[in-house]
Amino acid sequence: MEQAKLGTKKRLFSGIQPSGTLHIGNYFGALQQWLEHQAEFDCVFSVVDYHALTSVKDAALLRENTFNAFRDLLAIGIDPNKSILFQQSRVQEHPELAWILDCLVPVSMLELGHAYKDKVAKGLDANAGLFNYPMLMAADIILYDTDVVPVGADQRQHVEYAREAAAKFNLAYGKTFVEPKEMIVENVAIVPGTDGKKMSKSYGNTIPLFGSRDEIAKAVMSIVTDSTTTEDYSHVAFQKAPLQTVRPANLYMIHKLFKPDSILFPLYSANQNNYKALKEILIEDIDVFVAPMREKWASITDADVKRIVEEGSAKAKAIASAKMADVRQKIGVTL
Ligand code: AMP
Ligand code: TRP
Repeated sequence: MEQAKLGTKKRLFSGIQPSGTLHIGNYFGALQQWLEHQAEFDCVFSVVDYHALTSVKDAALLRENTFNAFRDLLAIGIDPNKSILFQQSRVQEHPELAWILDCLVPVSMLELGHAYKDKVAKGLDANAGLFNYPMLMAADIILYDTDVVPVGADQRQHVEYAREAAAKFNLAYGKTFVEPKEMIVENVAIVPGTDGKKMSKSYGNTIPLFGSRDEIAKAVMSIVTDSTTTEDYSHVAFQKAPLQTVRPANLYMIHKLFKPDSILFPLYSANQNNYKALKEILIEDIDVFVAPMREKWASITDADVKRIVEEGSAKAKAIASAKMADVRQKIGVTL
């Protein structure tokens, strides 16, 4: 019974690069959706360390980030009994299929890839891995007969490329891959950072998800509070616009992730001139929200992480290798 029910669920795949400590922007912008999808979909989640290799060149750092990414995902509630959670580099079928897809798509298509194009536009040297990045991502997705891929709007093109690559393969060799669709939550929170710009590791404006209370307090106290109102934030596609004007907007926009408008409106109007008090409330609210995850984080041992990564990767490998047996047959490399 249970088996049959599982089989009717749509397959969902998503991945995250192990490129540093998670912040609340990652959580509300992406990972919270992963958690919600676990019930409805047959989920496969990957820590894509070979993608991170396009930018991280320090072995110890890559290892540490990858390990921590797994611990973080488990601590927020990714459940290895419900979803497959695996390390990309342990399933060699990914780079293998990426090569085969590279042989099907034109250079002109990859030249238009955002990550590559943006780097070149900035006059920076892009490595060939960055150029081929979309086909590795395509391989991630289509190896698992994925129906849907939840991603931020910035990843829309990459999922289109995956669909295109699947279609090209199917056309050349016969129907083999499901052509995946992106799932983009249109008004997903673009979480502002402590300076009002998009929260991002590269801007140094983050509030860490698993920070200690002191670290959270330090980040919140550094939030720039000026006289901007929530109306000034219409450029940030931030959930639904608040029903009334609130200030200081930067603080409020972050606070809104943790408490509903109905509680925040009166609180913010009662503290119009006391930003410090508002910040102290926000620190407490973040702390209360994070505390259970932090506790779970601390309870997960290194051995747990290793075992879960091994088991999840073995499950992924079984699916991917069956798919690749078919692919090898079809392309003519089996003798
Ligand atoms: P990154 O670390 O930038 O590769 O982001 C990992 C995931 O978190 C991506 O799916 C992003 O869309 C999401 N993300 C990162 N920063 C933010 C932010 N400030 N607001 C919303 N989502 C974010
Ligand atoms: N490129 C994605 C990002 O930077 C990460 C990623 C790699 C991914 N492979 C994937 C996301 C497959 C979804 C599906 O966020």
